[in-house]
Amino acid sequence: MKFQLKAGRGAVKIRLIPGSLGRFDGKTLSVGIGQGDTLKPGLSKVSPLTRREFVLIMRKVVATAKANKIKSITLDYKDIKSLAPKDMGDYEIGRVAGTAFVMADYEHNTYKTKPKEGWSLVETVAITNAPTAAKEGLADGLIIATEVNATRELSNTPAGDLTPKSLTAAAKKAVKGTKIKVKSLGMKEMQKLGMGAIVGVGKGAQVEPEFIIMEYWGAEKPNKGLTSRKAGGKSLNSVVLVGKGVTFDSGGLQAKGGDHMYEMHMDMSGGAAVIHSVVLAAKLKLKVNVVGLIPAVENTTGPQSMRPGDILKSLSGKTIEILHTDAEGRVILADAITYAKRYNPAIVADAATLTGAALTAFGEHANAFMTNDSSMIMDFMNLAEESGDYMWPMPMWKEYDYIVKGRFADVPNVPATGNSRYAGVIGGGKFLEVFAKELDCPWIHLDIAPKMTAAPDEHLAKGAAGSPVRFFLSLMEKYAQ
Ligand code: BES
Ligand code: MN
Ligand code: ZN
Repeated sequence: MKFQLKAGRGAVKIRLIPGSLGRFDGKTLSVGIGQGDTLKPGLSKVSPLTRREFVLIMRKVVATAKANKIKSITLDYKDIKSLAPKDMGDYEIGRVAGTAFVMADYEHNTYKTKPKEGWSLVETVAITNAPTAAKEGLADGLIIATEVNATRELSNTPAGDLTPKSLTAAAKKAVKGTKIKVKSLGMKEMQKLGMGAIVGVGKGAQVEPEFIIMEYWGAEKPNKGLTSRKAGGKSLNSVVLVGKGVTFDSGGLQAKGGDHMYEMHMDMSGGAAVIHSVVLAAKLKLKVNVVGLIPAVENTTGPQSMRPGDILKSLSGKTIEILHTDAEGRVILADAITYAKRYNPAIVADAATLTGAALTAFGEHANAFMTNDSSMIMDFMNLAEESGDYMWPMPMWKEYDYIVKGRFADVPNVPATGNSRYAGVIGGGKFLEVFAKELDCPWIHLDIAPKMTAAPDEHLAKGAAGSPVRFFLSLMEKYAQ
């Protein structure tokens, strides 16, 4: 049965009480609340939580119900509202709670045999006493989390079953019922256009690379942030989202050591997030033009694999010296960022599981971001905080320009000088900045390696986290009319 979020009553009543009990008497399920998970001893009343705590508690409701094999629950909206931060309105409370319920319900069980008693998933969350605005928020929350979960499902799919071609097929399937247009360029077309960076990384694999293009024309007027250039009567000004679509990253000829290769089927998480963010814009009928660009390749070994020392000619005309075959993500993104120019973008945002260094820096609790417009850093941080896709900035100072100084080509994919272990995250951003310089608009790069998988303490199933779909949504809303 499909997940249902509805007004009215469900079978089991949820009681939100201090402490972390999870007690179930057959009719009522007690879910512990408080700052974090448990109230400090001596506190009998729960004060409004922070937004972050509120998200976690809403997820915990569903996680606790699942643990007790409860399929249908009732929550009183007044209880929910009493916990929410004071500055959240009813629509927002509904939207954040709805998103949290549905994200907490998802599990990757596609490859498991269904148990006789069925999966222990919650099927219905019913809400009593919700005002209209909250109901609208809950309904949108369901739409949002459905796309986040679809992102997670794509990311979780093993690489043996998800090639560049099937990523294109997934994009085409995801847009069914919307007015989004999807097309893809194959090897020959990319060669003809001069996309030597994507071709160079992709040619080592048995499976051919693809360049996926999704267009959603939702704006009647130009997007905020830039006046449009008319082309054929259509306003081409847009928000361009770029996502790394490496369907498996073995490291290439400089192969990753055993343990580090595990989970590299999720190296297309940025691409999956872009696919479902564009779908989300259409499903929420946002009045904004959005373009999704996903270079999709498998980075692996073969007789045609790129070698250290190879020089690739990118779409921008700049040459790239491959000094490490495992720094493939930035290389394919270079061509995608150049391709974005033709959409006269108001902003370009890319998401990529780019560096292990980002994980080393932040652990699993924040993505790293960099931008060429430092006046927008606070804006981006606020959007991220509100969206629940947490991220933190890294500097792009001139001092780091040595990272992109070329030796035998215009730009190396890893620093040709200096200690290669230093400034790994910034190195990825600096490389992309070289190509983003050609854009006439702000650009933001998200290194989403940290939030590729869910952290153990965020009440989400093990596996892909679906980041940064919620941030991309906030960003698209910012540019919408
Ligand atoms: N996809 C990896 C980065 C990654 C590692 C993402 C772990 C998620 C979890 C990327 O392509 C990569 O291999 N990066 C290298 C860069 C290095 C060669 C400069 C890395 O992080 O080691
Ligand atoms: Mn790699
Ligand atoms: Zn990679």
